[in-house]
Amino acid sequence: MTRIDTVIFPVAGMGTRMLPATKVTPKELLPVYDTPLLQFAIDEALAAGARRIVLVSHPKKAAIEAYLAAEPELEDTLAEKGKSDLLRAVRTTRLPEGVDLKVVMQEEPLGLGHAVLCGGAAALDGPVGVILPDDLILGRPCLAEMVAAYDPNTMKSLVAAQDVSRGKVSSYGIFDCDDASGSGAIPARGIVEKPDPEDAPSTLAAVGRYILSPEIFDVLEGIGQGAGGEIQLTDAIAALGSISAFRFSGDRYDCGSKDGLVEATLAVQASRARHHLRVAAE
Ligand code: G1P
Repeated sequence: MTRIDTVIFPVAGMGTRMLPATKVTPKELLPVYDTPLLQFAIDEALAAGARRIVLVSHPKKAAIEAYLAAEPELEDTLAEKGKSDLLRAVRTTRLPEGVDLKVVMQEEPLGLGHAVLCGGAAALDGPVGVILPDDLILGRPCLAEMVAAYDPNTMKSLVAAQDVSRGKVSSYGIFDCDDASGSGAIPARGIVEKPDPEDAPSTLAAVGRYILSPEIFDVLEGIGQGAGGEIQLTDAIAALGSISAFRFSGDRYDCGSKDGLVEATLAVQASRARHHLRVAAE
């Protein structure tokens, strides 16, 4: 199995869709029941074997780095008071030994492709993973599933994929593939960013998990503005070729939207309740 040592997190966006909640709090730190979105994403990267986390952030979002920094005083207080559950919860915000954190700044919102390019300079050798934290995937950890399915000999990209209604294709990267209803990794001829419904080659949409050959960085250097005047990751993936879409087994929530965040919160609440019942029964 190919290792994915680096996972890039594009987190520079201003989260305007969620104002005023995101006026001071970065959207990645909004809670889903009891846990910030960012924590789910980091846990997913760790489950996939990441050794380096690259945050592509913005100077106005220093709270993200603060969230990941150690808080020895807080930990000491919780330890003294014997609050072991809370202490464990706080310690999950620390990266484990052997995993490091690099933070690079994307000062201007030039697009997802530009964000990934900014992160490239801090990446370790080999293919990289990308996680968009506001696409929350619960259930089986998606990136780990993708690492197991990734074959560098036949794929230059492996992109998480999900069916959407035709009316929604203009919000996503959409795959051009024959076997859109297949399972696991599905080879695709192409991918197009946010097509009009009548032009969309399918209704199979890209979701925020990617495994990318390191050649993507050279392609991104040369790719111009695409849809919406932004440097699009989708365009670089299309230019690189050898694309595969990956149907994941978990449940995806669009936590960049208010309703998606509420639905995810209810799902996590239900899974916490099931967990407590199980523990109580043991
Ligand atoms: C980005 C990508 C798009 C992808 C989507 C998944 O769009 O550009 O291809 O389908 O994430 O959430 P955004 O949601 O940032 O507009």
